[in-house]
Amino acid sequence: MRDRHAVVWTRISGEPVKMGELYTTELESRFVYDESFLTLSLPGLGLVLSPEIFGLSTLKWTRTEHFDFPPPLQSLIPPADEHNFQRHLIMNYLQASGINRGTPFENDWNILTLSGHGGIGHLDTFSSDEKAIAWYSTPALPQKELLSRDTMLGFSLRNMLTWFDDETGHLLEFMGPTPSVGGAVPKLLLSIPKSGWNGTVGLPTRFGNTQYTDVILKLEKDTAYPGLSELEALGLDLHKKAGFNTPRYWLAQFNGIHAIAIERFDRDARCIPVFQESLFSILASGNKGIQHHYDASYDQIGRMFDNPRITLINDRKAAKRHLLKRLLLSFLTGNGDLHMENLSIQIRHGLSDFSPVYDPVPMRAYSRHNMLNVMPFGDYGDYIEGRDEPVDFTLAVLRFNQALGFNYNSLIELINELLEVTDDFCERVNQLNRLPEENKNNLIQIHKKMRNALSDL
Ligand SMILES: Nc1ncnc2c1ncn2[C@@H]1O[C@H](COP(=O)(O)OP(=O)(O)OP(=O)(O)O)[C@@H](O)[C@H]1O
Ligand SMILES: [Mg+2]
Repeated sequence: MRDRHAVVWTRISGEPVKMGELYTTELESRFVYDESFLTLSLPGLGLVLSPEIFGLSTLKWTRTEHFDFPPPLQSLIPPADEHNFQRHLIMNYLQASGINRGTPFENDWNILTLSGHGGIGHLDTFSSDEKAIAWYSTPALPQKELLSRDTMLGFSLRNMLTWFDDETGHLLEFMGPTPSVGGAVPKLLLSIPKSGWNGTVGLPTRFGNTQYTDVILKLEKDTAYPGLSELEALGLDLHKKAGFNTPRYWLAQFNGIHAIAIERFDRDARCIPVFQESLFSILASGNKGIQHHYDASYDQIGRMFDNPRITLINDRKAAKRHLLKRLLLSFLTGNGDLHMENLSIQIRHGLSDFSPVYDPVPMRAYSRHNMLNVMPFGDYGDYIEGRDEPVDFTLAVLRFNQALGFNYNSLIELINELLEVTDDFCERVNQLNRLPEENKNNLIQIHKKMRNALSDL
């Protein structure tokens, strides 16, 4: 394989600055912070792969099956699955620009260097400094030309969801080199009027423009997941009621496609990117054994918050309490998908904390997602020394609580608080418009079971 070179920039300070250089060879990816970047004392690639820890020395990343690049950079590339909507969109864009498909690695490299900017978080990757400077100095679209709903209907979003139709070309014309976002659900990064969704959209903001706000538009594939967007709305409402920070959202519909537009919190009020990194990226940066987003247990995450050598979240006790509360609320709301990519840390005004809540979808409503195995905690389901039976749910909750250093009474207090937050859960599920009866019943059963199990503690 030919050695390759790319550059990493960021707009985290408000101005575009170069962060460093990336070199990738057959065996490893190497990253070096720019000397001038180091003088700015800004956050770098990630909390573990930070400028404080690496300084001027080269960060050497041995390539693995799942990480060709250091995890914060790997996060900019959608999973190598041709059925992934974001990936398909970018690959089509590249093809339309004359860049043919190559080996899986070549495709990833092209995605990283040609579309790895303007997406979620604070990192922008480019093939050269010239490209970076040119990109930062071009406004995305004059924002007054937010495309009207009618223009959006110029191509069929329904067809877009089938992914393999001629009309994708129209979408590509509209989207341009679209910034990308990971995950399983088809989604687009767009901007809408700051006052809220009114059916007009534009490309993501690039320069501070207080009239517009950035959103993630998550599209519902109603054959596989009917009612998904209203379920996400319910999840967000319940997390808000429990006292978590949640983004504004709007349920929307065009041409028969249901969707939810969620305001992005990785941009501040002036549209300047905020440092944001998932727990997956953070933990995988420090431990080569972590290859999947469920490879670390909640107990391990809790221990990371207590690690004296690295500060992930400034208020360590609050971080552990947040983690416990998120896990308990996910049980009660039928969300079995609270894995390490659905938890992120942000740095604002020099302090690090959990980001607002995202993706709190009660996915267990759909039978194929009715499980808890991407969120291992308290050795649930495992055999441990001194016991003939695997650890049951109740014991696992107690073990995890103890591992975090909290006492029994505070756990019971927290559980009671969350039981109250979700006391109208069944009613709210029954009131949903589009979730099929069968899924409603599933979800209600799951909630009741969890409620009983937690009440019995
Ligand atoms: N409101 C938001 N503001 C900023 N970043 C966000 C927001 N919502 C989601 N993200 C980021 O985008 C990524 C994908 O979003 P999300 O998790 O909602 O989608 P998903 O496709 O449902 O993921 P999954 O594969 O877990 O089902 C998240 O991992 C997170 O990094
Ligand atoms: Mg997610």
